[in-house]
Amino acid sequence: MQKDQKIYVAGHQGVIGSSIVKVLKGEGYTQLITKEKNELDLLDEKSVSDFFSEHKPAYVFLCAAKSGGFFFANKNSPEVIFENIQIQNNVISQAHQNNVVKLMFFGCSSIYPKYANLPLKEHSLLSGPLLSEKIPFSISKTTGAKLIEYLNREYQTCYLSVLPSNVYGTNDQMDPERAHVVALMLQKIHLAKHNNIPQVTFFGSGEADRDFIYADDLAQACLKLMKTPESRGDFNIATGNEITVKEMADIIKKEIGYQGEIVFDRNHHDGVLLKSQDIHKIKETGWEAKISPEEGIKKLYNWYLESQTQ
Ligand SMILES: NC(=O)c1ccc[n+]([C@@H]2O[C@H](COP(=O)([O-])OP(=O)(O)OC[C@H]3O[C@@H](n4cnc5c(N)ncnc54)[C@H](OP(=O)(O)O)[C@@H]3O)[C@@H](O)[C@H]2O)c1
Repeated sequence: MQKDQKIYVAGHQGVIGSSIVKVLKGEGYTQLITKEKNELDLLDEKSVSDFFSEHKPAYVFLCAAKSGGFFFANKNSPEVIFENIQIQNNVISQAHQNNVVKLMFFGCSSIYPKYANLPLKEHSLLSGPLLSEKIPFSISKTTGAKLIEYLNREYQTCYLSVLPSNVYGTNDQMDPERAHVVALMLQKIHLAKHNNIPQVTFFGSGEADRDFIYADDLAQACLKLMKTPESRGDFNIATGNEITVKEMADIIKKEIGYQGEIVFDRNHHDGVLLKSQDIHKIKETGWEAKISPEEGIKKLYNWYLESQTQ
């Protein structure tokens, strides 16, 4: 990947896309292409085709997606399936037709089958029934991962499909239905402190283990893979260090300086209690996560405070 080759980051305003842009700029890549949704709606096949014909990017990070939390995905199941598959098909097919050197597609650890053995290995995709609450998202993302696999097999491309764990980072949209869980927890605790609310309640037991990865760490891993010409196929990306949701809440509470109490409402379910991923493949590239949860939360809180003043 040469510093002056054209790199298109789709979804550059999102949590992951914005970190990828930041890391690329930091490493001196000069020909970054980004388009806002109102300039290029990735659902529109003709616009995507025209864009690729005009710009001819050499590398593509496909971070754009219809994403959101559990309630959002459940309420918007048809849109989640339709939009994700449409965006993926448009971008991946145009990348292929326009001889993109390398493309990275983003799946997610939650698309693994319900009973897949832990730690989750890349080859376990599609090896059993999916988590019922994740079906719309899992079906669409698994379709993208399989499309990448078959393109690599039939056309000898070196496209990548990454499966990150729970990502958190700056540029979250903070909409309660669409924001990522860590940002929502942070906002809730921040507001409780500022409104002198003595107790904050989160759904679930707080005992679920999660591998929270800061988006800049993820972006470094993605860049490493894109810079390796022969890398292809599926890659789990996670820190390898899990903590419970309660431990994450305590880290946020400490950073914010909230003196109240954090309560977990066990009447609501936790989702999967354990979902550790096997990260041997990504670690073989020499990458490892560097940002601790404490450091990541500090960065996220600084961004959040700044964003509130704009
Ligand atoms: N965050 C996580 O925990 C996590 C974990 C694993 C995998 N992933 C995957 O990684 C990818 C990026 O995640 P993220 O957290 O960065 O998501 P995000 O913050 O929601 O960003 C996605 C971006 O895509 C844009 N987009 C959606 N539809 C579009 C369209 N039709 N045309 C152009 N742009 C469009 C969105 O714009 P609007 O906001 O205007 O719609 C948004 O800026 C997604 O595929 C996600 O599933 C995320």
